Amino acid sequence: MSALQGKSIVVTAGPTIEPIDPVRFLSNRSSGKQGYLIAEALAAGGANVRLISGPTCLPCPNGVERIDVETALDMLAAVETALPADAFIAVAAVADWRPASKQARKAEKAAQGASLDLVENPDILATIAQRENDRPALVIGFAAETHDMLDRARAKRLRKGCDWIIANDVSGDVMGGDENAAWLIGQTHETEWKRAPKKTIAENLAAAMDAHFSSR
Ligand code: CTP
Ligand code: CA
Repeated sequence: MSALQGKSIVVTAGPTIEPIDPVRFLSNRSSGKQGYLIAEALAAGGANVRLISGPTCLPCPNGVERIDVETALDMLAAVETALPADAFIAVAAVADWRPASKQARKAEKAAQGASLDLVENPDILATIAQRENDRPALVIGFAAETHDMLDRARAKRLRKGCDWIIANDVSGDVMGGDENAAWLIGQTHETEWKRAPKKTIAENLAAAMDAHFSSR
């Protein structure tokens, strides 16, 4: 039997959108595909998966409970509400900043001008990885990099305090595409996952988590 059976797993996916006014927002490039496929692969292994998703065009994967959010602040609150969990996987492309204030009415471009005051969003992965209570036993992040991928990903894993980080090179056509190439980086192990469909990468991660839980 899969060691994923009955495990409670929270996954974030998709972009966040940060409103400027009722008709404009800031966001990140993300189709949500990789996160949705991970949620689906874990559910297929018998896990109870909650997928906390920013806006995407994708249908909810089979056997997964989806919770829709828009902003980083809402995503963080939804993740905290979903705890306790056995594992947390941050796949979402969270917008690093949000407008300092949201205008209630559409701003006229002449009045708004061309500059925007921004404030930094909370780091959801680091917040969950560094929680004192209810920290999931396995916290996994992603590091999408365009250069110095492995070094940047190793540093990101340590900085954020997560157990594993999946590094992927997004300098080519990965964003929005159906294939991905990645490295799984843990404290004592690093494994390369060669370029493959995003579904295969998701199955590789589910298998690594299954092996991790069965060895405990
Ligand atoms: N992440 C998060 N909350 C944020 C920013 C990032 O949970 N506010 C998570 C992402 O879901 C991903 C990991 O952190 O799992 C790395 O995201 P990334 O954008 O690569 O890292 P940053 O710390 O934002 O660094 P930078 O964008 O400067 O490279
Ligand atoms: Ca970022």
